[in-house]
Amino acid sequence: MADLFQHSIHIILAAQAPSGAYVACPNFPFYRYSWFRDGAFIAYAMDLVGEHASARRFHDWAARTILQHADTAERAIGKAGRGMPLGEDYLHTRYTADGNVGPEGWPDFQLDGLGTWLWALAEHARHTSEPLPPEWAIVVDLVVRYLVALWSIPCYDLWEEHPQHVHPYTLAAIYAGLQAVAWMATADHRLATAVDGQLLTKVADEIKRFVLTNGVRDGHLVKSLAPPSIPAVDPLSDPLTSSVDASLIAIATPYRLFLPDDPIMLATVADIIEADLHCVGDGVHRYRADTYYGGGEWVLLTAWLGWYYREIGEEARTRELLHWVEAQADVNSYLPEQVPTHLLAPDRYAEWEARWGPVAKPLLWSHAMYLILRRALESIGRR
Ligand code: BGC
Repeated sequence: MADLFQHSIHIILAAQAPSGAYVACPNFPFYRYSWFRDGAFIAYAMDLVGEHASARRFHDWAARTILQHADTAERAIGKAGRGMPLGEDYLHTRYTADGNVGPEGWPDFQLDGLGTWLWALAEHARHTSEPLPPEWAIVVDLVVRYLVALWSIPCYDLWEEHPQHVHPYTLAAIYAGLQAVAWMATADHRLATAVDGQLLTKVADEIKRFVLTNGVRDGHLVKSLAPPSIPAVDPLSDPLTSSVDASLIAIATPYRLFLPDDPIMLATVADIIEADLHCVGDGVHRYRADTYYGGGEWVLLTAWLGWYYREIGEEARTRELLHWVEAQADVNSYLPEQVPTHLLAPDRYAEWEARWGPVAKPLLWSHAMYLILRRALESIGRR
């Protein structure tokens, strides 16, 4: 479907604010913000389709926004170093297009988006020939120090839930971000930072060891964990630490904490798909207990699974998932966040619709994951 490809690019460009921020969904009041997580994947997709100027404008927005809140980040680093609670001192997961904190409360303490931003920044450097603006180096240094100081502190997960835990998804995003900075800091990778390369490697190794030691049960990854400061929790008394989540795909694709064909990843994906989250239709659910808009099938996760399958060479499966994603586009070529098919909690759908209106659409992150999947498929035969 050539059209959806071009339309996705236009939809993303049209929703990019003059400041460079990617508004998560222009038609959904609570999503008229720019998330580091969504934005990093969107910028990556734009780099893949040759829209480098758009990606750069987002990275520039992200760098300016973080700098605008640098004092807060420094206070967080200081407090974490002294073992003090952060209170209100932390970088938010989303800001307005002008880089400000929004008026309504939000589960804003999330660390994955900043790790993913560093990863996407390195991908931007990989895909473009222009040097990165040297002023970004100060921001990268700050974000690295922030993540190094805070990685083991419990925070909300990527679905903005479960703040008492740490999450393999989040840890893998941080791991990928630190590795990306280590790569950018080496010769020719175009960002001269003051970052201590050995420290990066040490912390990245520590994160990987922690996930390997605590985050794998019965051969597969689990959704969430007790933080390193608390002794491991009995999985029976804490179901979160034994359940799975579709976002665990990201631990390999793209974060590379494990390789896509690592037996742990193969088992994790088999569990997610065969047993838990891909049970009826072709779309992927987030996790079993999901009740948000009744727990539908997520477009971005289905595309993500296709991206993973492409990486392990399962082309036919990748195409099936691509077709499912394409079939979710409406007459305007808009892709939603999720579709209300095979709902996990059908009795909870109406309540969300009454509270926040129809499901967010177009969701820029869904369009971005579609573009990434299309590019992944096109690369078959070129490698
Ligand atoms: C999701 C987040 C996402 C945000 C904006 C939330 O409902 O849980 O992962 O970043 O929407 O798209």
